[in-house]
Amino acid sequence: MSYTFPVTHTATPKEKPDETQLGFGRYFTDHMFIMDYDEGQGWHDGRIVPYEPISIDPASCVLHYAQMMFEGMKAYRTPSGDIQLFRPDMNFERMNRTNERMCIPAMEEDIFMSAITQLVDVDRDWVPSVQGTSLYIRPFIFGDEVSFSVLPAKRYRFMVILSPVGSYYAANDGGLSTTRIFVEDEYIRAAVGGTGFAKCGGNYAGGMRASKKAAEHQCKDVLWLDAAEHRYVEEIGTSNAFFMINDEVITAPLMGTILPGITRNSVIQLLKKWGIKVSERRLLIEDVVKAAKDGSLKEVFSSGTAAVISPIGCLYYKGEDNQVADGKVGPVAQKVYDTLYGIQTGAVEDDMGWTVKI
Ligand code: COI
Repeated sequence: MSYTFPVTHTATPKEKPDETQLGFGRYFTDHMFIMDYDEGQGWHDGRIVPYEPISIDPASCVLHYAQMMFEGMKAYRTPSGDIQLFRPDMNFERMNRTNERMCIPAMEEDIFMSAITQLVDVDRDWVPSVQGTSLYIRPFIFGDEVSFSVLPAKRYRFMVILSPVGSYYAANDGGLSTTRIFVEDEYIRAAVGGTGFAKCGGNYAGGMRASKKAAEHQCKDVLWLDAAEHRYVEEIGTSNAFFMINDEVITAPLMGTILPGITRNSVIQLLKKWGIKVSERRLLIEDVVKAAKDGSLKEVFSSGTAAVISPIGCLYYKGEDNQVADGKVGPVAQKVYDTLYGIQTGAVEDDMGWTVKI
């Protein structure tokens, strides 16, 4: 069953930004979706309204105890002008897994899908078409009860906002290029039993101290190591990490500490389909450094909704640069990017059944 929500159209549509200068999360469309939850009533009163600031009580629990979650997904413009989503069912499933961990009420799939598709349809003129661009979709839920009790809220708001975007890393504007990444061996992101697998804001707030350190060392992002020993590679600040050593592509296993990326899952499926050996297993940072030095580290890249495929040319670890091969974009990362972004935008035939037209 699909829902049709009431729409209040904006009286003052905004001027659309230059599609070649979008950056990431700088512009927002004309409308947004809001729905409320009250204990005993469930999710109710979904509606599409003009994009505008919301009012929130200063004592709202989310502002103090951060009971919230978010998702990240994209809509793409195909060569024929259609609009399509990429594996939205995976975002829905991950949302409810996060909700369960954060004590946020579950939502039914039809509400989620109807909210996303109807909002994107209302703002369909905002889906960009320039190479490398898309419409980023940010669904989020937050506890909104006026209370200082450290308990799950009895009231929530579910919202969806949309942002036309280019590359997350400016280095990838107009095509792929490599970034330099800081290997963080002091602070940690997530431990087993924590919230590492959940998409909640606290995971990112706790990571900003390390991102600041990375920026001070002219690095674009952080590569996290495991919490217990600070020795095993986990994920990049915004994305999952892949390491190609000789002919094996290795990525961290899903042990509850890393985000189960939808792009990560898609990359694994594509590599397997192409007959490239891919392993979800623990990998020591010492082995990565050793491989960089002896030349067996062929490629490193990250994958994510925002990051898409971001090749890494250098890993800065314990005061030393470890160049990955020749420091340039590798053929595997390039092929994964071309295929994945091609499927997402309809330029490459979707023989995986991943895209959903709006
Ligand atoms: C996404 O890729 O959708 C994310 O949520 C990463 C974001 C923190 C930039």
